[in-house]
Amino acid sequence: MTPGGAPGGRVDLRSDTVTQPTPAMRKAMAEAEVGDDGYGEDPTVAALQDAYAERVGKQAALFVPSGTMANQLAVRLLAPPGTLVVAGHRQHVVVHEGAAAAALAGVQIHGVDDTSGMLVPADVAWAVAAVDHHWPRVSLVCVENTHMPSGGRPWTVRALAEVRRAAVGLPLHMDGARLFNAEISTGVPAAAFGAEVTTVMSCLSKGLGAPVGSLLAGPDDLIASARQERHRLGGAMRQSGVLAAAGLVALRGMVERLVDDHARARRLAVAVADRWPDAGLDPGAVATNIVVFPHTDPGRLLAHLRAAGILAGTIAPGVVRLVTHLDIDDADVERAMAALATAP
Ligand SMILES: Cc1ncc(COP(=O)(O)O)c(C=O)c1O
Repeated sequence: MTPGGAPGGRVDLRSDTVTQPTPAMRKAMAEAEVGDDGYGEDPTVAALQDAYAERVGKQAALFVPSGTMANQLAVRLLAPPGTLVVAGHRQHVVVHEGAAAAALAGVQIHGVDDTSGMLVPADVAWAVAAVDHHWPRVSLVCVENTHMPSGGRPWTVRALAEVRRAAVGLPLHMDGARLFNAEISTGVPAAAFGAEVTTVMSCLSKGLGAPVGSLLAGPDDLIASARQERHRLGGAMRQSGVLAAAGLVALRGMVERLVDDHARARRLAVAVADRWPDAGLDPGAVATNIVVFPHTDPGRLLAHLRAAGILAGTIAPGVVRLVTHLDIDDADVERAMAALATAP
C-alpha cells in the first residue's frame, strides 16, 4: 500500500475512485490561489481548464463536480429532447447515471453492441438511416474511452474515425473518464482522440488520484453554453480553486504512472485466469487498470476476498470487477493474487 493508501490496511480494488489525495495535492490545495468562479475569477480553475483543453486539443474546457455531470451537460447541449442518442448499451451514460439522459435531457438512448469496448460503425449508420423508417432522429453518438465494462479497453483512433464517418456530421461525445489510461496504454495522445469528437470529458478523481472533479472540453461556444447549463443544474462552484489545485497536480504529474496500474491489473488478470480458466478472461487483453470477469456466485467470492482484507465489486449480475490505482502497490497485488488463488 502506498503512502496515503487504503485505510485499515485493506487492499481496495473496488474502484479507482477510492484513492486518497497525495501529500502534493493536499499542499497545492492548501496554498491554492482562489477567487469566485461564479464571476470567472478563480485563477486556479482557469489554469486547470486551460491545461485540460490544451491536453485534449479543444478550444475551451469547464471544471465540473463529476463525470456524470460532464456527460449529462454534453447530452443536454448536443441532443434535443425527443431525439435518439446512440451509445454502447453498457456505457456509463446509459446504465450508471440514474437514467439522467431520459429524466433530465428528455432523450432516448439507442443502445448498440459494445462487446469489444468500441461501437460497430454499421450499427451507428443503421440508426442514422432508420429515421427514413419512422424512427426518431439521431442527434448524438456517445463513446466511452476507455470502456469500463469490457475491462477498460481503449479505442483505436481508426475505429473512432470510422464511427465519426458513420455518424455523417452528427456530433460525437467521448466519455473519457479514463482517457489518460487510454493514452498511456496505446501511446496515442489524448488530443488525437479528442480530434475525432465534438466534446470530451475526463475525470480527475479516478486513475489520476484527485479527490474531486471532472472536465468537459469542446468548442468555445459549446463550453460557454455548458457553463450556463452547469449553473442551471446547481453545479456552479465558488472558490473551487482548492479542488482545481489538486486536479492540476493530477493532470500534470499523475498520467505517466498509470503504466504501473496497468501492469498490476495484468498480474491480477493472470491470477483470475489461472483460478478460473473457463471464465474467458484473456490477461493479454487487459490493456489498462480494470479486470472484469464472470463468476457464478459473486457474493461468495467477494466475501472470501473481504475475509482476506481485499475489497472487490460487481458491475452487473454475475460480473466481478477489480481495479488498480494510485493506492495499490505490488505488495497489495501479491496479497490479492494469493486470495484469488484460493477463492471459491
Ligand atoms: C466510464 C465512466 N464515465 C463516467 C463516470 C462518472 O464519473 P463520476 O463518478 O465522477 O460521476 C464514471 C464513474 O465511475 C465512469 O466509470
